[in-house]
Amino acid sequence: MTEPLKIGVIVGTTREGRFADVVTEWFMDKTASRSAFKFDVIDLRDHVLPHFEEAMAPAYAEPSEGAKGKWNDLLKSYDGFIVVTPEYNHSIPGVLKNAFDYAYTGWRRKPLGIVGYGPSGAMRAAEHLRVIAINFGMVPVRGAVHIAGADFFANMTERDPKAFPEHIDPTLDELLGDMEFWGNLTKPALKA
Ligand SMILES: Cc1cc2nc3c(=O)[nH]c(=O)nc-3n(C[C@H](O)[C@H](O)[C@H](O)COP(=O)(O)O)c2cc1C
Repeated sequence: MTEPLKIGVIVGTTREGRFADVVTEWFMDKTASRSAFKFDVIDLRDHVLPHFEEAMAPAYAEPSEGAKGKWNDLLKSYDGFIVVTPEYNHSIPGVLKNAFDYAYTGWRRKPLGIVGYGPSGAMRAAEHLRVIAINFGMVPVRGAVHIAGADFFANMTERDPKAFPEHIDPTLDELLGDMEFWGNLTKPALKA
């Protein structure tokens, strides 16, 4: 049997009262029985990084001290990533961009999937994130979840991870299919 792909599920916002927790719980519940993957939540609240302040870009000199060094080491232990993100002013939240800026080798040449949510479903943020991911040589996959419009608003007050409509599920299947395909191609190549 193929070893499961180790995928980090990055929670892309940190503000008080964030909706990210509801979507992350939905994702973890829905994927609990998927034997092709081992998903771990990576919450940016637990990995507090300063606003980027290094003398060198991590592509040339990876930060090695304290939380900054640990961040890249943590990323290096994963075969790919799912990013749970809304859209802040038509792009990804600043805290998430900063987390990308703070590492390099940990992201490199791994598949990246997106679970977007919010009034717009984070469509524009997802497109920005795909372009950012390419600078790390990542494989931003086509399949994606976008919890948008009425599906988002209907659950804004209730905040129930089980209350999202089932018509979203096929988009999750497509995302996971793409992650499995690309993850199983890149993982052995990265280890070689
Ligand atoms: C600073 C800020 C900017 C926002 N900009 C957008 C936007 O451009 N498009 C959109 O669809 N929603 C936007 N929203 C609404 C968010 O999608 C919504 O509040 C979502 O719940 C944010 O995720 P969070 O609760 O995990 O922080 C914005 C929210 C904030 C706080």
